[in-house]
Amino acid sequence: MWPVVVVLCGLVLVLSSSPTSTQAGGGVPIVAPVGKDPSTSLYTVTIKAGGHDLVVDLSGPLHWSRCPPAHRNFPCLSSACQAVNRDIPPGTCTFTSKFINYTDPNCICPTYPYNPITGECGITDATTFTLSATALNGAQQEPVTFMALGACSTELLYETLPADSWGVAGMSRLTQSLPTQVTSTFKLPREFALCLPWSGGGSGAVIFGGGPSQLLSGVAAQALSENQVPYLKSSTNGAYYLHVTGINVNNAPVTLPREGALDLNAGSGEGGVILSTVVSYTTLRSDIYRALLAAFDAATSGVPRAPAVAPFELCFQASSASASALPFPGVDLLLDNGRTWSVASVVQVDDRTACFAFLEMTMISRVGWEPAALLGGFQFEDRLLLFDLEKETFAFSGPLAGGCAITSP
Ligand SMILES: *[C@@H]1O[C@H](CO)[C@@H](O)[C@H](O)[C@H]1NC(C)=O
Repeated sequence: MWPVVVVLCGLVLVLSSSPTSTQAGGGVPIVAPVGKDPSTSLYTVTIKAGGHDLVVDLSGPLHWSRCPPAHRNFPCLSSACQAVNRDIPPGTCTFTSKFINYTDPNCICPTYPYNPITGECGITDATTFTLSATALNGAQQEPVTFMALGACSTELLYETLPADSWGVAGMSRLTQSLPTQVTSTFKLPREFALCLPWSGGGSGAVIFGGGPSQLLSGVAAQALSENQVPYLKSSTNGAYYLHVTGINVNNAPVTLPREGALDLNAGSGEGGVILSTVVSYTTLRSDIYRALLAAFDAATSGVPRAPAVAPFELCFQASSASASALPFPGVDLLLDNGRTWSVASVVQVDDRTACFAFLEMTMISRVGWEPAALLGGFQFEDRLLLFDLEKETFAFSGPLAGGCAITSP
């Protein structure tokens, strides 16, 4: 414990105690509700005291949100300052750090929030936030509050977020992400489960330090826990990459442009399949998209076509009442060890039209590396995703009959 006096804009904040103060949670999982913003289709988590949501970014390294004018600061040469900046992916936002004089005793710790929707960076104060969630203690649910390190946002950065969102909850595999901080604070296993809600209704959930047993029956939870695949990592970011070796449409392999078309080059960060909560529909590099579209087109030759509804290219006549009964072919991702993951292939866009729910990547990403695919939120809504940050593995369920509702403790 070191008392520190920081002078900022005439405010004098007297700080004591260590940067991440721990509050007892008793080693039980911590859960927070996840919703879907109807206007942006972004997923939001309610974890902030004061009732404001944060946008869920599975690849985000950091927690950032609006700060009151009088917020806690850290000196540049403090361990908290080192910690909060340890895992900011190089080359994304840190370019502004050359303006910081770290040896100046008045230097206030900066950090670099990143807006995953616009690709914009900020340079702002590092601070601590008081967050709130629910501890799942058997059948009992108890409110808990806790501290997390993060970044104050700037006006510019949150302007593009949903109206009720005050920032971004970074859920990456890195040391300053929310799952890492929450599980460390509550001394929980370094894992979390995520269930994105379907836009049609219901609530989703993120469970820190907990696994499938809060959302699945004992047997299904056991099966899921035993069915993990390693996730891949890139040196350029904190995203979770899936090792996808191929794609099936209607159980037949799609002819991809070349061997290893979906592979990640872990050094350069090129290629690979990223699980993304900030793109709505799975977005594929042009060559892969064209191959998949052609396969789906051929496999649906018997289904009457409808005029295309932007941003989709291939649409079908399908009433919402009969959509689930229609013979749309499945799209399966082929993973290691003969496993497949079936993802949603069509989306109902109005009462008479369903569209092939994949998009072509058009923009070169601003960060300089281009994935082969961004697996979008729609493709894994109402499914349970389990991330084990210790073992570096990932598990997934099929569509949950009861949605993401927390059923058993
Ligand atoms: C950084 O701060 C130190 C201590 O105040 C000062 O001596 C030094 O000149 C500063 N460096 C620059 C580049 O401003």
